[in-house]
Amino acid sequence: MRRIIVINAKGGCGKTTIAVNLATRYAARGYLTALFDYDPLGAGQQWLQRRDSEAPAVVTVGAADRAATATRAWQLRVPPETQRIVVDTPASVQIHEILDQLRTADAVLVPVLPSPVDIRATADFIRDLLLIGKVRHHRTRIGIVANRLRRNTRALGDLERFLDALDIPVVTRLRDSQRYLHAAERGLGVHEMTGRGAYGDRLAWDAVIDWLEQRETDSLARAFTDRLRAPS
Ligand SMILES: Nc1ncnc2c1ncn2[C@@H]1O[C@H](COP(=O)(O)OP(=O)(O)OP(=O)(O)O)[C@@H](O)[C@H]1O
Ligand SMILES: [Mg+2]
Repeated sequence: MRRIIVINAKGGCGKTTIAVNLATRYAARGYLTALFDYDPLGAGQQWLQRRDSEAPAVVTVGAADRAATATRAWQLRVPPETQRIVVDTPASVQIHEILDQLRTADAVLVPVLPSPVDIRATADFIRDLLLIGKVRHHRTRIGIVANRLRRNTRALGDLERFLDALDIPVVTRLRDSQRYLHAAERGLGVHEMTGRGAYGDRLAWDAVIDWLEQRETDSLARAFTDRLRAPS
């Protein structure tokens, strides 16, 4: 059973969007997957409740009791055959509240948006993750998900400079797209939607799975995610 935590203290950077899309992509690829919704508002759980019964199932576990979820008790709350657990965390989460979860996770995904406020907040958050969380010491892998990118914007250039200076891999680059909203309305991941951009969206998510599963990323997937890179 592998566990992946999606976390950034900064609100609205796409944690729930990324957690649900990842969980549904894992499910679509045949993994028995659970979404552990650590956010008391339960947006991820609500998203998956809208899911058609024919879509690959994702078990959801709520986090009514914050104290209990911060400890190893989480393990008792998912079916024993679960293969992948994706944890969605709330805004303003404090590293020390979730220390045990972080240190025993297989991977931590940190979403970041291309805005000066988000870049600053994320820089502080990553510093805390390394200093207080000491996640690297515990061999938890950390990856960045650059989210809501728009080509040829100045903000993208600023984000790229920030990412270049970090010693942390950028696992994928996700475009800013209404398809994420439409997918959420229907209880789906964006990779489960048809229409324009479907192929690229699927590749962008497969790049995440490849990194998590420590597989060589398909060169097509890499090319698609790199399209959203600002020219240096
Ligand atoms: N790639 C994207 N393209 C378009 N819209 C997006 C994208 N990613 C996220 N959003 C939208 O941005 C908003 C915030 O996203 P989300 O709720 O996933 O963030 P969050 O980090 O979970 O927020 P919170 O801190 O409140 O839990 C939502 O309306 C979501 O639909
Ligand atoms: Mg959220």
